[in-house]
Amino acid sequence: MLKGKTVVLGVTGSIAAYKIASLASMLKKQGADVEVIMTKNATNFINPITFESLTGNKCLVDTFDRNFQFSVEHVALAKRASVFLIAPASANVIAKVAHGLADDMLTTTFLACQCPKIIAPAMNTRMYTNPILQDNLKICETYGMEVIAPADGYLACGDTGAGKMPEPEELFDYIVKAAAFPKDLAGKKILVTAGATMEAIDPVRYITNHSTGKMGYAVAKAAALRGAEVTLVSAHAEVKPPRFVKLVPVKSAREMFEAVTAAAADQDVIVKAAAVADYRPAEVSDEKVKKKDGDLSIRLERTDDILAWLGVHKRDGQFLCGFSMETQNMLENSRAKLKKKNLDMIVANNLKVEGAGFGTDTNVVTLITGDRETELPKLTKDEVAHRLLDTILEMTGETSPLGMTGKSSPEETGES
Ligand code: CTP
Repeated sequence: MLKGKTVVLGVTGSIAAYKIASLASMLKKQGADVEVIMTKNATNFINPITFESLTGNKCLVDTFDRNFQFSVEHVALAKRASVFLIAPASANVIAKVAHGLADDMLTTTFLACQCPKIIAPAMNTRMYTNPILQDNLKICETYGMEVIAPADGYLACGDTGAGKMPEPEELFDYIVKAAAFPKDLAGKKILVTAGATMEAIDPVRYITNHSTGKMGYAVAKAAALRGAEVTLVSAHAEVKPPRFVKLVPVKSAREMFEAVTAAAADQDVIVKAAAVADYRPAEVSDEKVKKKDGDLSIRLERTDDILAWLGVHKRDGQFLCGFSMETQNMLENSRAKLKKKNLDMIVANNLKVEGAGFGTDTNVVTLITGDRETELPKLTKDEVAHRLLDTILEMTGETSPLGMTGKSSPEETGES
């Protein structure tokens, strides 16, 4: 994801500095060129050699190091940087970068950088809640830097409260958001539905399906990483919701209908990946249904077809994408849904094809539009999500500038 990107990590004097070693390693595994700049104080907490071993690059501390490759190393590095994260960011360094002070390698390089800048404060909670520090963070934000709120928890000094640096996985997600993808969906509002609805029978039991939410979550994540404002209406899912989206949790088809229809008018794109129940129990018992001799029947009634409602109420310029999971006659059935529900695209898959369907990390889909069928090879669900977004951009006349995920040749896609 980060191939060809230069990620600069600024490490300041805080016990959390040791966590940056695993962040550097995660970034390296994603193909990034990782440059670490430490303040002098940071070297009391972790040895620069740790970072040099992990990144393969010299760890920079001293602005006047005579072994530098370039005479003005901080400017050379600033020009190459795709993103600059200061983590852990001490109160002292935050004050400096808020006011443009540049008195060491870290702060001079930071000041010279024009790439996205991220700050992850880490300090004692009394320092963190000090209004001067808070004002400095606000100043950083007004200059366009992103501040990652510290977590609440037990701090190294023995106090408990806000000030704990987020885990490396969270820092990694911020870096990916800043640097991995062009922001070709910036300014777009995208609503995604995902997961399996649950239709109550009684307080103990419900009717549901095998959807794990992976495909819808991948679409929501990809759209957010490409700059869209994403609302994710999610029924039950078995994966962690992606960061950087507005999550609206729902349980039943009725709740999903209400959440989706309330937000629909505002959206530029709606992608309905959720597996919504077509039927629910006509009566829901308030008490647990006790077993009796003999069989039991549950009368089911139809739920609202949310996608059909969206098709009827689609406003000018809005793009509507549905999903279609079939076990037979995939193309005909999906084409019929595309037409009947007034969709712009339907993503069809056959549950019986190896690598497609519920729970897997891959999918094998055909993107069907009014005049085209594009059969994609087996891809990860993340890749499918990007292809789907590429197609939406193409169809709305806003082709992704970098061909995002590597546009497929007609031979590869089986386009017809
Ligand atoms: N869908 C919906 N509301 C429902 C049922 C389905 O919005 N009550 C949406 C799904 O989110 C999906 C699309 O409709 O995007 C297709 O779902 P699918 O179950 O494959 O098709 P159905 O139209 O329900 O038809 P059938 O079950 O007969 O295949």
